[in-house]
Amino acid sequence: EKGGFDHFMLKEIFEQPEAFKKTLTGRIQNDKVKFSEFEFTKEQVQNWKKIFIVACGTAYHSGLVGKPLLEEFLRIPVEVDIASEFRYRDPLVDEETLAIFISQSGETADTLAALREAKSRGAVTLAITNVVGSSISREAHHTLYLWAGPEIAVASTKAYTTMLIAQYLLCIYLAQVKGTMPQGKAEEILSALQLLPKKCQEILANKDAFLEAARNIKDAQNLFFIGRSYDYHIALEGSLKLKEISYIHAEAYAAGELKHGTLALITEETPVIAIALQQKTYDKTLSNVKEVKARDAFVIGLAMEGDTEILKTVDKVLYIPKIDDIVSPVLAIVPLQLLAYYAACERGCNVDQPRNLAKSVTVE
Ligand code: M6R
Repeated sequence: EKGGFDHFMLKEIFEQPEAFKKTLTGRIQNDKVKFSEFEFTKEQVQNWKKIFIVACGTAYHSGLVGKPLLEEFLRIPVEVDIASEFRYRDPLVDEETLAIFISQSGETADTLAALREAKSRGAVTLAITNVVGSSISREAHHTLYLWAGPEIAVASTKAYTTMLIAQYLLCIYLAQVKGTMPQGKAEEILSALQLLPKKCQEILANKDAFLEAARNIKDAQNLFFIGRSYDYHIALEGSLKLKEISYIHAEAYAAGELKHGTLALITEETPVIAIALQQKTYDKTLSNVKEVKARDAFVIGLAMEGDTEILKTVDKVLYIPKIDDIVSPVLAIVPLQLLAYYAACERGCNVDQPRNLAKSVTVE
């Protein structure tokens, strides 16, 4: 059942290349994206003035990556909301809203309640889920399946990365239908997506580097993850993973925000994981790394293969293979999943069944 792995979490991390293929299979034809599950007309897509992405935990973090993508290619505002917040305010949802609900299990109580709320306000609802026939898939107007295979470990891994891939595909599909996808851009993203299984495999083959990095941080009481734009979204997910299974207190910060208060907490005892993959903000992120280095933090950089510049500033670097910046989040999280996994093992934690947590949160 664990297929020779010590834990389901490790097995599921290693299943990612296969899971990526399954999420992509049959959905790309001649640089066009299509789903067998649903179809929208140009009029329908044009009618949406706003998009909501609503989810909890890791699924919410995946939605943070979806927002800038959809805004860039559909040119309409997108809000990402935590389901337990969305449902208790008075969200501006109407018939001209597309509301997307992301849930691995399809059973999360708050996400389901948020879906019902949006539906009652007239929104078109679309579920992104891994579980066929789940409550959320049954109640949403449309469902996009992840096809990632069963995820048993409480800590979500392959569901997260396939949620990202599903959102790249959805975004390209909607922008193609609407006619707002810039010339050449779909081809570029789709070919990058197709490289992901192989590139993920390369990261997994290098797993000892992450075990070694885990040994560097395993005794920390507090730790920070920093990054900008997509790298910040990855910081949030990396930090949740580490907290959830290793019980090390971690916080994720938008790198530029650190100096507005939190920098006061940085000392030689707070390791910092600095994610520096986005070329657009690379120099700015590196200046933030210098700020934490000046406070004597031990810094582990996460960078793109071939980046030697970063070596001048950090104590240690973990690399991911070169890939288009826009899809880099899918690869960037893999080293952080492994880092959290090995840190938890080193600390003797129960990786698959962390304390106080359940796989599916069916209470509100
Ligand atoms: O099944 P869902 O995707 O709706 O679950 C949402 C969260 O409970 C879940 O992602 C949780 O944050 C994970 N345990 C994180 O690893």
